[in-house]
Amino acid sequence: MAIENISVLIGTRPEAIKLMPVIDALKKSGINTSVFITGQHRELLSPILAELNIPCTLNMELMAENQSLTALSARILVAMERVLKKHGTDLLIVQGDTTSAAMSALACFYAGVKVAHVEAGLRTNSKRNPFPEEVNRRLLASLADIHFPPTPGAEENLLGEGIEAESIHMVGNTVVDALYYARDTLLPGLTPDEEIQKTLAAGREIILVTGHRRESFGADLESICRGLLSIAETYADKVEIIYPIHLNPNVREKVLPMLSSTKNIRLIEPLSYLRFIEAMLSAKFIITDSGGVQEEAAALGIPVLVTRRTCERAEAVDAGVSQLVGPCRDKIFKAAEELLTDASAYKKRAHPTDVFGDGHAAERIVAVLKSYGNDN
Ligand code: UD1
Ligand code: UDP
Repeated sequence: MAIENISVLIGTRPEAIKLMPVIDALKKSGINTSVFITGQHRELLSPILAELNIPCTLNMELMAENQSLTALSARILVAMERVLKKHGTDLLIVQGDTTSAAMSALACFYAGVKVAHVEAGLRTNSKRNPFPEEVNRRLLASLADIHFPPTPGAEENLLGEGIEAESIHMVGNTVVDALYYARDTLLPGLTPDEEIQKTLAAGREIILVTGHRRESFGADLESICRGLLSIAETYADKVEIIYPIHLNPNVREKVLPMLSSTKNIRLIEPLSYLRFIEAMLSAKFIITDSGGVQEEAAALGIPVLVTRRTCERAEAVDAGVSQLVGPCRDKIFKAAEELLTDASAYKKRAHPTDVFGDGHAAERIVAVLKSYGNDN
């Protein structure tokens, strides 16, 4: 069957960023392309869609305040069934491991629509870490017809689970395509952020922080905040911590009371993609549990402390740019202290690496999709 109509599914902020290069490459290749938005994210997503000029065919607007995974999953399944009935789609492209990606792929399976999975094969092999993403990924591996792992390690994971080799195409991670495009084409047009400039001019180091993983809510998030407080207090004259807080209320209710009265911790609203890249490029290092941020920081050569117990991006740890510190106050503080005070240890870590891709993943994905119809 020839693939004539391809649709791309976006639910959350990172899916928009990582699928932008694919949408762009599909359009350039002349394939009839639609973009479906579940609306799992709303405020986090809409500025990025505008910033990256991502066209939207329809938006299901499914976000609800502090939504449960079950309710969200059920609503995506029902909405996607309707969307697939209304819009003739031969193949849906999903990305990563969100509820939007997993449930949309399941709806496609029920409707007999093919699925291509971008960023396939990431595994921690720990069912609840990250939660629920590790299970979403496995679901997606069994639902997808075409798998696009970003690294040889991810490809091996899929082969090890018995996925047919012919359906796997190692292409790199599209996060690097998006990053290079934004950094080199869009960022030069941006007026530099005044606060960042002031901090750097005063000779202070910037530490950029993000965090949103569900398995960390509660005691682990508290321990991460204590680590940040120790850094801010010990290095009060030397560092400024910038922390754009995710909109998940479970994050805000812990972080705001714990950190808002510390002078050199600047709690801010989520940044636009370009402003976030600017903040990464200005940072001495980053403390995060984000998957996408680990990949971007590795491509830029900015050291990262990963506040998670397990990690599916071991490539960056092996390359030395990332260090797994867990949600552990003392480890976070010690690792940050080393980066702040040991110049030679820092230098060893601060190297750009192409372990996640070379910036041409989207072109490879589209080349595979174009030939897919001829053989299947
Ligand atoms: C989701 C994904 C996670 C991904 C992350 C990227 C799932 C289960 N989780 O986590 O894999 O890494 O997005 O950021 O798919 N909210 C808003 N406005 C927004 C977005 C969220 O107010 O634009 C609030 C809402 O109260 C919402 C809550 O955050 O109910 C949680 O959002 P949800 O998409 O379920 O989970 P995330 O933690 O954002
Ligand atoms: N990001 C952003 N603004 C912010 C924080 C992050 O644009 O304030 C971008 C970041 O560059 C990366 C992506 O959002 O591309 C990561 O999203 P998130 O951490 O929400 O999800 P994850 O990658 O963990 O799934």
